[in-house]
Amino acid sequence: MDHFLYRDGALYAEDVPLSEIAASVGTPFYVYSTATLERHFKLFDDALEGMDHLVCYAMKAASNQAILKTLAALGAGMDVVSGGEYARAKAAGVPGERIVFSGIGKTREEVRMALTGGIRQFNVESEPEMQVISEIATELSVEAPITIRVNPDVDAKTHAKIATGKAENKFGIPISRAREVYALAASLPGLKIIGIDVHIGSQLTELAPFEAAYNKVAELTEQLRADGHEISRLDLGGGLGIPYTRSNEAPPMPTDYGALIKKCVGHLGCEIEIEPGRLIAGNAGLMVSEVIYVKSGEDREFLIIDGAMNDLIRPAMYDAYHDIIPVIEPEAGVLPQPYDIVGPVCESGDTFAKGREMPPLKAGDLVAFRSAGAYGAVMASEYNTRPLIPEVLVKGDQFAVIRARPTFDEMINRDTIPEWL
Ligand code: LLP
Repeated sequence: MDHFLYRDGALYAEDVPLSEIAASVGTPFYVYSTATLERHFKLFDDALEGMDHLVCYAMKAASNQAILKTLAALGAGMDVVSGGEYARAKAAGVPGERIVFSGIGKTREEVRMALTGGIRQFNVESEPEMQVISEIATELSVEAPITIRVNPDVDAKTHAKIATGKAENKFGIPISRAREVYALAASLPGLKIIGIDVHIGSQLTELAPFEAAYNKVAELTEQLRADGHEISRLDLGGGLGIPYTRSNEAPPMPTDYGALIKKCVGHLGCEIEIEPGRLIAGNAGLMVSEVIYVKSGEDREFLIIDGAMNDLIRPAMYDAYHDIIPVIEPEAGVLPQPYDIVGPVCESGDTFAKGREMPPLKAGDLVAFRSAGAYGAVMASEYNTRPLIPEVLVKGDQFAVIRARPTFDEMINRDTIPEWL
């Protein structure tokens, strides 16, 4: 459920008509609903009730400071994957003890930054990384809390580009080698083993792969404990999928997911961490765009809009489906017609949808891309020197620009000219 609904024939974000935001900030833009962000976070938090737990929002999904502050105010921890994300989390007021550092390529600078600024744990992904963390922690005379990310070799049954839990993927250490790698960790100075981490992929629409992975983690917990390690925390990753179409998809709800977690690992008495990103932010955001032209091709109508692949790359990159709906609700009885919905970028891949049934639209009409809150703005680029589009946050009847559109001068002036030119 989200808070983007038609009211009196017009699409609203909570209590604000989208047309009002468009008139104020121009198109295209991203808009997020505070109530939806909060609702989604609480769904996870409630789903783990009764277990000692922390929901660490995977901020790669949408990392605007205002979004982070909204979630941090509810007690969210953050899952970060770079020094930049770590800095963003800190800037949003999240204390180090609620920040988890994931990712396979943490640099020495990033490790140092987190050890100096405070960190809940590093999710270690390889032996060489473990060596580096050990070295830097020793140098700084601190103890680095770690989990080791295991790769359980489970098929997440999701898009190949976002599956991470198979042996062929670059993530984690093979679960078959976990015991020797934990033994190595125990032998290194400056490290404190606190648990196990696993994350098998994103946009999972079934619970079975989670169940397979979590059962393996439960078994490993017992083995590692028998080996003498203290395993007190399990980071179970993110990945729960969202419905991108409103009709035929019904991925499991966070409550089902929470029940599964209890079933698989509840008996171990560990503190539970999860790292959801998409489910918190995805359906809490829209991208709103204006029709520039309707162009007749040989055998089809093109809806040319002012949003493009640089603003929302998911369709071009993952063949992702996004619902696209008119901001003015079509009147009953209006017959839809098929459109190829495309952006202005000079590539045929700049196509959001082919043959998409829409009510008849004309230049100047607004359309909204649903489910664009996660992996939308954060994956945008300035390709074709198109400015990054603004982000807007709505709360009740208020809205605020939380990132302004840069001017052309601001974009150009980021370049510097060598003295020989
Ligand atoms: N934890 C780790 C270690 C991750 O790598 C990810 C996502 C998450 C948590 C959050 O997963 P979520 O709950 O959002 O599924 N750009 C792609 C998605 C990439 C996901 C990368 N890792 C897309 O637009 O579909």
